[in-house]
Amino acid sequence: MIWENKIATTLQWTKEISNREQKEAVAAKIAERVKDGDVIGVGSGSTSYLALLAISKKVKEQKLNVLAIPTSHEVSMTCSIMGLPTSTLLNARPDWYFDGADEVDSRKNLIKGRGGAMFAEKLVMKSAPENYILVDSSKFVSHLGEKFAAPIEVDPRAVNLVETELAKLGAKEVQIRMAVAKDGPVITEAGNLILDVRFNKIEDGYEKEVKSIPGVIESGLFMGYNLEILTT
Ligand code: A5P
Repeated sequence: MIWENKIATTLQWTKEISNREQKEAVAAKIAERVKDGDVIGVGSGSTSYLALLAISKKVKEQKLNVLAIPTSHEVSMTCSIMGLPTSTLLNARPDWYFDGADEVDSRKNLIKGRGGAMFAEKLVMKSAPENYILVDSSKFVSHLGEKFAAPIEVDPRAVNLVETELAKLGAKEVQIRMAVAKDGPVITEAGNLILDVRFNKIEDGYEKEVKSIPGVIESGLFMGYNLEILTT
């Protein structure tokens, strides 16, 4: 049997998609790379959502055999609605991975995690031998932290310790990310909190330094990864 209810069959994105035309153009580029038999890691966020729609359309039209490894409920639900089979890192390894980003600097370092999915995004990205980052022109910055705070996923018991340790790294502002459609903080899919952190300067070793603080699950700093940046 198949689900025929509204939730199971209706595509929806949480809010209006900014720079939609540019994101659709870069989505079309990544869809061109899909070939029969691919296992594809799927990042989260609105660019990844549009890319997933373009990929699903191609898969359907060309009757391709493709498996997706999602990085969030939002991606799993979209795959389900689009009829794209999914798997997990326990059962499959991605041939390649695509994702969006909040900021990209000239050395291809990234800030990610506006959508709160950076933990799973990093797991799937690191598992794939090829990584494609899809960005519209608004995402390019001269230095990380220019526009976005760096998100850090933290075990709820560790927020005070982590804030104290981050101050030693030069954090000038640390905010718990608050939910919009529920009271209290955002709870990630792994049951943790997110701290949005502004640093005086994000130094090269910060991804590792932040990760070494007890209680930090993962950060949205992606520094020194082997990435191909696709843009319009
Ligand atoms: C999801 O948690 C994020 O890492 C997104 O990939 C990032 O915020 C980019 O989002 P948009 O594609 O919506 O701009």
